[in-house]
Amino acid sequence: MRAIALNYSDRSLIEKDVPEPSLTGAGQVLFRVSEVGICGTDRDLASFRILFPPAGDDYLVLGHECVGEVLAASTDVSKIRTGDLVVPLVRRPCAPACDWCGIERRDLCSSGKYTERGIVGAHGYFTELAVDSAADLVVVPEAIRSYAVLVEPLSVVEKAIGNAFRLHPGNPARALVLGAGAVGLLSAMGLAARGLAVTLTSLEPPGSERARLAEAAGASYETNPTGSFDIVIEAAGAPAAARTALAALGPAGVLVMLGVTKPVEVPMLQLILRNQVVAGSVNAAP
Ligand code: BGC
Repeated sequence: MRAIALNYSDRSLIEKDVPEPSLTGAGQVLFRVSEVGICGTDRDLASFRILFPPAGDDYLVLGHECVGEVLAASTDVSKIRTGDLVVPLVRRPCAPACDWCGIERRDLCSSGKYTERGIVGAHGYFTELAVDSAADLVVVPEAIRSYAVLVEPLSVVEKAIGNAFRLHPGNPARALVLGAGAVGLLSAMGLAARGLAVTLTSLEPPGSERARLAEAAGASYETNPTGSFDIVIEAAGAPAAARTALAALGPAGVLVMLGVTKPVEVPMLQLILRNQVVAGSVNAAP
């Protein structure tokens, strides 16, 4: 079957013929891939700055934001049926399980020996068919079929917003989101749905398609945000966004970093004197 993969021998993005997967044991589910999203992580992988091919392979099938339709399941699987719509979890727990993986918090894996389909050491879903263990699949309602491909990035966003609320000592009222990609727009929606006044900032000019999407998500769109914010979610990936985020953080504010990977100078005295929190967040719990 066809797959889209990164070829690590000559650093190219290729269409590749890969073996069709099939049910080989208990607890498994075979599904047809309906849609796959593309995000900044895929772009980082495709620029070959980070290389995590599965053991023994010189290629990685891309794709981790997936929705599929179940074709068959092993006889012992009861919670998933043929025709169900499923979204795979990206991360596979380490084995033997660390304390976090052992309690279904693979997103907090402390051994670092996890794999992630389409990202770290395991092939992804840019294929026609896939097999996963039922425990790694989430059944989603048919009613959300047309946007179910956003469930995985939304899970990342929901974890980040949950962390921000837990870390804030009061009642956050104003939020700033940096970045107008899927994760930024979903963050704006999630924060607006919780009643916060949300500002979204990005490089695109006002009136651009992404600015309009931000406004449709319930945020005001500003290229140069002013004022201070109780919750700031960084989903832009650029060091400049991290600096803007730190400067916009209000007293007792919480900044959750989702995208920036390069080092950025952090004003420690500001964090101390204003009781601020800067947190990182990755992946999501089942
Ligand atoms: C995915 C996460 C994953 C992270 C780091 C993101 O794009 O949505 O599930 O944990 O990349 O690999």
